[in-house]
Amino acid sequence: MSDPAMSDPRDDAVPVRGRRQWDLPKQADPTAPLLEVRDLRTHFKLDRGWVKAVDGVSFNLADGEALGLAGESGCGKTTTALSMVRLLPENGRIRKGSSIKLFGIDLVPKTERQLQRYRWREISIVFQGAMNALNPVIRVRDQIAEPVRVRLGQSETSSRKRALELLDLVGIPSRRSDAYPHELSGGMRQRAIIAMALACDPAIVIGDEPTTALDAMVQAQILQLLEQLRRDLGLSLMLITHDLSVIAETCDRALIMYAGKVAEEGPVSRVFTAARHPYTQKLLGAFPNIRSDRRTLEVIPGSPPDLLNPPPGCRFAPRCQYVMPICSEVVPPEITFDDGVRVACHLYTTASEGAIGSQTTTVEPTAATAAAASPASRASA
Ligand SMILES: Nc1ncnc2c1ncn2[C@@H]1O[C@H](COP(=O)(O)OP(=O)(O)O)[C@@H](O)[C@H]1O
Ligand code: SF4
Ligand SMILES: [Mg+2]
Repeated sequence: MSDPAMSDPRDDAVPVRGRRQWDLPKQADPTAPLLEVRDLRTHFKLDRGWVKAVDGVSFNLADGEALGLAGESGCGKTTTALSMVRLLPENGRIRKGSSIKLFGIDLVPKTERQLQRYRWREISIVFQGAMNALNPVIRVRDQIAEPVRVRLGQSETSSRKRALELLDLVGIPSRRSDAYPHELSGGMRQRAIIAMALACDPAIVIGDEPTTALDAMVQAQILQLLEQLRRDLGLSLMLITHDLSVIAETCDRALIMYAGKVAEEGPVSRVFTAARHPYTQKLLGAFPNIRSDRRTLEVIPGSPPDLLNPPPGCRFAPRCQYVMPICSEVVPPEITFDDGVRVACHLYTTASEGAIGSQTTTVEPTAATAAAASPASRASA
């Protein structure tokens, strides 16, 4: 984890809204926060009922900030990301009362057509499988030029020029620009996907497990690239990963989800060193620490609930060692502490430091993130 006493290179980042050539959307409030998500509820319709995949999630993302989303598989991370740009499967619905405000503009009531203005131009997504996101029969350069031409209305010549600039920005030399996707390595393909995500110069880039399929060294390079782009372009990042050390190394804030809800959210330096929510504590305990004995790894007993029919009250109650009678009946309210950490747990009825269940625990960087964060690798970026 970074030493808070050292000056952070991100401090020099120019916020994206001060740098871009075009104006903010017409209804934008220039004083509004970049992104404010409130009570987001995204459900999927099945014959048997509604899957409450995301059920009352709120968070903010500031200019130039990186927010890491973590939680067990199936807790709603991807659904949260897809809701931002409404790229949901057919049976997905964002329910009434949810709001996703970008520059103060609520995207939830926008029609599909109105959303075109925001998708890729303001918020873009980098998915895990680069091969699935690229068209195998079109040269990489042309695939990157296309969104520039179609969405920004630029000419063939200037969109190709822009594609070459973008490839250069992500570290793909111009001599490789006419390659087809299968002619590039996995890391190069993921770089190309990042170039596509940057094509329209968005304010926010969401990475949904963007490095999961890559080996440790390439993963380190891609994370380093995202970090550098954030600094140079003033981007805001939402990084979804099951690897807590990636969040520890690259993010300012962490949002821990459990069964479609926020368990804990706050500065990485607090959430990862003094986790308050029993689920966060278990999640950190289940994560390998390079300094500790492998046998000390904890397992979280049981499994997450069926989101078609989640338990009333706290959804973690069936697995929680601190469970109390109230937990099975009443949904725990979110409480924000003085250090900016927000927790939804009945153990904390008043916001105070060192409340019950708080413990000190640390996450160590893996070899990959340690390599990405090393001064040598930053210098060669
Ligand atoms: N199209 C769908 N129809 C029904 N359920 C879905 C659909 N897509 C996702 N889900 C369910 O929504 C929940 C959250 O999924 P997801 O957002 O993909 O989780 P994560 O990214 O955290 O692994 C899971 O229970 C998953 O099975
Ligand atoms: S609300 Fe109760 S069951 Fe849920 S995490 Fe807190 S103590 Fe455990
Ligand atoms: Mg996912």
